[in-house]
Amino acid sequence: MKYGFFDDSAKEYVITRPDTPLPWINYLGSDGFFSLISNTCGGYSFYKDAKLRRITRFRYNDVPVDNGGRCFYICDGDTVWSPAFLPAKTPLDDYRCRHGLGYSVFEGKKDGLGSELTVMVPQHTDMELSKLVLKNETGSEKKITLYSAVEWCLWNAVDDSTNFQRNWNIGEVEVVDSTVYHKTEYRERRDHYAFYYVNKPIAGFDTDRDTFLGKFHGWDDPQAVAARTSYGSLASGWAPIAALRLEITLAPGQEETLLFGLGYVENQQDKKFSAPGIINKEKALTMQQAFSGPDQFDAALDELKSYWEDLLSRFTVRSSEEKLDRMVNIWNQYQCMVTFNMSRSASYYESGTGRGMGFRDSCQDLLGFVHLIPERARERIIDIASIQFADGSTYHQYQPLTKRGNADVGSGFNDDPLWLIACTCAYVRETGDFSILDEPTPFNNEAGTEVPLLEHLRRSINYTIANLGPHGLPLIGRADWNDCLNLNCFSNTPGESFQTCANFESGKAESVFIAGMFVKYGKEYAQLCDRIDLKEEAEQILEAVDTMEASVMAHGWDGAWFKRAYDAFSRPIGSKENKEGKIYVEPQGFCVMAGIGGDEIGKQALRSTDDLLGNEYGIEVLYPCYSEYHDYLGEISSYPPGYKENGSVFCHNNPWITLAYCTVRDGNGAFDLYTRHAPSYIEDKSEIHRTEPYCYSQTIAGRSAQNFGEAKNAWLTGTAAWSFVAASQGILGISPDYDGLMIDPCLPDKMDGYQLSRLFRGTRYDITVGRGDQKGMMVDGHPIAGKTAPLTEAGICKVEVII
Ligand code: BGC
Ligand code: NOJ
Repeated sequence: MKYGFFDDSAKEYVITRPDTPLPWINYLGSDGFFSLISNTCGGYSFYKDAKLRRITRFRYNDVPVDNGGRCFYICDGDTVWSPAFLPAKTPLDDYRCRHGLGYSVFEGKKDGLGSELTVMVPQHTDMELSKLVLKNETGSEKKITLYSAVEWCLWNAVDDSTNFQRNWNIGEVEVVDSTVYHKTEYRERRDHYAFYYVNKPIAGFDTDRDTFLGKFHGWDDPQAVAARTSYGSLASGWAPIAALRLEITLAPGQEETLLFGLGYVENQQDKKFSAPGIINKEKALTMQQAFSGPDQFDAALDELKSYWEDLLSRFTVRSSEEKLDRMVNIWNQYQCMVTFNMSRSASYYESGTGRGMGFRDSCQDLLGFVHLIPERARERIIDIASIQFADGSTYHQYQPLTKRGNADVGSGFNDDPLWLIACTCAYVRETGDFSILDEPTPFNNEAGTEVPLLEHLRRSINYTIANLGPHGLPLIGRADWNDCLNLNCFSNTPGESFQTCANFESGKAESVFIAGMFVKYGKEYAQLCDRIDLKEEAEQILEAVDTMEASVMAHGWDGAWFKRAYDAFSRPIGSKENKEGKIYVEPQGFCVMAGIGGDEIGKQALRSTDDLLGNEYGIEVLYPCYSEYHDYLGEISSYPPGYKENGSVFCHNNPWITLAYCTVRDGNGAFDLYTRHAPSYIEDKSEIHRTEPYCYSQTIAGRSAQNFGEAKNAWLTGTAAWSFVAASQGILGISPDYDGLMIDPCLPDKMDGYQLSRLFRGTRYDITVGRGDQKGMMVDGHPIAGKTAPLTEAGICKVEVII
């Protein structure tokens, strides 16, 4: 069953009923000011850091779910309704939510009154802007009372939801004209404030939540709204809000357009106040001036749309597979931008208060983002490398505002360093910008420790070489990509963090997965060295790669698939010898992509993978699921069978298998797996899948779970980047390379070819792929040997490929 449909020409997903199985959200903003917005207008905003600069409050575990957010109430006669259904919950005569790229539109209608609410964060503006158009579609005059309200977060989202003995004393606001200014803690060390305004005179306001809502009332039914009044409350402590009231008369057929803005301002320390205790509002007024009317709004929306048009035009495909095209051309690239911006910090499932930016997460996110805005990718690579330590190990996370490594989580995730090689090589292949390798980059952000970025990569690769276990395989440390396979943890204390505890310092547990990574990225590093004339280093690394391959084949191959690891006692994990967890997906993906053992071994591993781990939604993480907790395995065995790392389809590593199929040139296998869980392909199972049909989720419950097929943790997952890599580089076969654009499609039999446009190093490659006997490539009418369309400064390049 579906709850809406894709409108590809508008690049929108149109939701046609408010009762989606879960809130279906969208992301607004691309630089500093970010908002999450659900299909009923819930959500929250923050500036850069969802923990430290939370602008509006959100209760993740609220009942009913998704209360608050942007609260609009339209009072028309005795009826009170909200243009996006919530919070008023009055059934609407018409409802539609159109989630577009960086904006959302809510169309509502009730009793002949139409509303269209468009919400966006304009480019280069620290403000969420909403345009509300009300239209009287009846033959008689309507007198409407309109309320609009937001609830402020007292900046630090953790403190805001925990430290009430302090919080209920500090809230402060100012109200001037049609603007409420939120200035909690501005009196002391903060130099930022927020504001909420409407571009028309107001009839009244409230800024104290409990006054506005009234005793025993919630956001669905505020007392002030019920009484069609405002109390003019000035928050002093407790919960400050901004609630504006407007009185509007609409003649028959008449339309009224209003703009609401939720802005964020920083002032210099010496310019904080305009009078004692009064905030300097200059910047806020300038922002309001810039958006005082609908024309300015429309211009900003057009600018936003062209921005996305331009970004997405860098990679577009036209094929016989509409659902593939819509993922590749629109939604997958969009999600890549979102994961690049957010890492795993802020969604409806990630509270934005814990994780900050992950080292491995951000490195992988870059793989799907680097073609969109390479300059931002460059900056990010340097930020990430700057939290690395001199021995090549690294902090696992950092906070975006401070860019400092997060000491609570620390280091010891032994896959982390290798991901830096993956994303840097991807960046250089995309851009040809070798100068990034010379960029002075510190260790642990300490001034004076800067070395060229290349030295960071060198230390990364050598970190693996220096940390091998008894089988010559990489030591796993706290965990590798699978954060829940905690082989040195041995936790028996309830609540203890599996991620950070190490109660068993054997140092022996080894990872076949990291070995696969080492082989794959070791080759890439050697290739990079070769390019910059470090021939000797390239050879030395390739020798280490050969040795690692041999170790994997000697100790990591289980006969029909790759083993997963060796535990702290050197017992195999992910082997036929195990009763549960006999086979894991990760090493099958990485060892096959790395080419370990050659094609026949790869094909065998993939057969086992699909036979044992495959279900209709994809490939499960492991099989059979662990039925009990084992301290020598850690968190993986803490989950009930079929959920999360204990046997769900963990979507992130499915594209590795798709790419592994492409490595062994099995186009049917690759495409079949791709379509099992690409959101557009399972849209009509939305009542089972439950999360948004336009973005990937982290997991889909596996066969052993009660709710088989149910997805969880939408949006912030490495699945986005890897699925884009799998579709664009694997199936469609377009890979940026040092000397040109490699074109090596791996299509299923059902596809005869495609047309594709790819902007690469300033030239637009217009590519046509078809099937035929005369196999080969023509570039601008000339036959070319090999599979790489060469670099050119021509600006446009026509490529025909027959496969
Ligand atoms: C989750 C993992 C996640 C880890 C670190 C675990 O509880 O299952 O998916 O990577 O926490 O945040
Ligand atoms: C989600 C985390 O963000 C990621 O770093 C990890 O690799 C996966 N979970 C698997 O555990």
